[in-house]
Amino acid sequence: MYQALYRSFRPETFDTLLGQEHIEKILKNQLASGTTGHAYLFCGTRGTGKTTTARLLAKALNCTGEGEKPCGRCPSCKAIADGSFVDVMEIDAASNRGVDDIRELRETVNFPPIQGKCKVYIIDEAHMLTKEAANAFLKTLEEPPENVVFILATTEPEKLPATILSRCLRLDFRRVSEETMIRRFSEICREIGAQIDPDALGLIAGQADGSVRDGLSLLDRCVSAGNHVTREDVLTLLGMAGIETYLRITDEVLAGRTGEALTTLAEVLAEGKEVNQFARDWMEHFRDLMIVKFTAKPENVLNLSLENIERIKKQAQSVSIETIRRCIVLLSSALADAKWSPKPRLLIELALVQMSRSVQESGAR
Ligand SMILES: Nc1ncnc2c1ncn2[C@@H]1O[C@H](COP(=O)(O)OP(=O)(O)O)[C@@H](O)[C@H]1O
Ligand SMILES: [Mg+2]
Ligand SMILES: [Zn+2]
Repeated sequence: MYQALYRSFRPETFDTLLGQEHIEKILKNQLASGTTGHAYLFCGTRGTGKTTTARLLAKALNCTGEGEKPCGRCPSCKAIADGSFVDVMEIDAASNRGVDDIRELRETVNFPPIQGKCKVYIIDEAHMLTKEAANAFLKTLEEPPENVVFILATTEPEKLPATILSRCLRLDFRRVSEETMIRRFSEICREIGAQIDPDALGLIAGQADGSVRDGLSLLDRCVSAGNHVTREDVLTLLGMAGIETYLRITDEVLAGRTGEALTTLAEVLAEGKEVNQFARDWMEHFRDLMIVKFTAKPENVLNLSLENIERIKKQAQSVSIETIRRCIVLLSSALADAKWSPKPRLLIELALVQMSRSVQESGAR
């Protein structure tokens, strides 16, 4: 059976956990000195490793292997990874949010561990607990039994009562940098025998916006569509107009070929691109043009392949800063108005016509 990449590549040890070194350090220290707490709160955006780290901690507390814990190989580590270890319980608070669910938990919490050394309760989406459930849970937190660790995970810590927050050690998960994701994703591609161009990976990592899970899901979709993935493949799969489109429509506007530019826009929208997103990306293209005009090494600023930077540089030679400024202003005000308009497309088209006219009227590009 095919297993999604984000499942088959869940870190089994701290080695492959990405971008959370600050948390890793704290937990490793506590584990080494035997000073782990009774309650943790893992906060952060989805897909940054909260559940993964909760399992790593649960494993480390129960690991029977040699060397650094968790080893990822002993029977306890393996059982926790596949969810068959009875002393590690994962509770999804989004679907077990009531006071009865928590009462059930409170009844079992005092029994000693059966299979391992330490019972671990991982409570996911903890902010979804009802007020009554949270209060019932608080009682348990106030008098934590021996050999029990609670790990609460949430994307919205501000929704948790202060009484619970104050009893947990809070650890904030960071968005993972594109560079870190790119490095790991190319390893994964090598492992699964998939070929992917570096600029395609860059695009995926950029789109993931710090969430490793989102990045892996995208990667999954791309590699299952073909055995050699290019940047264009990613763009097609994601329904994003590629740099070629923005270069072309910008050329058309700069040359005053308004009709052709409107047609290009229509084509892009017909492919399913959302009009506001198009306008935002087009603005981003004008930003790229501006950056290459001013920086000696634009590759340090722009997340684009060198080939694409060359293309942008070429276009930038034929456009003045003043024109770039005017285009950005027109697009951004159209975007702001489009938010409230029932006809956002019309506003973007109007902006395009004005951009084209203003270039012609100023006489210079
Ligand atoms: N920091 C990370 N390092 C490596 N892989 C990660 C990381 N965060 C998420 N992942 C990947 O995404 C999947 C889901 O991560 P998970 O820990 O459930 O995220 P969260 O609980 O923060 O939403 C994991 O199986 C793993 O493949
Ligand atoms: Mg999770
Ligand atoms: Zn182990």
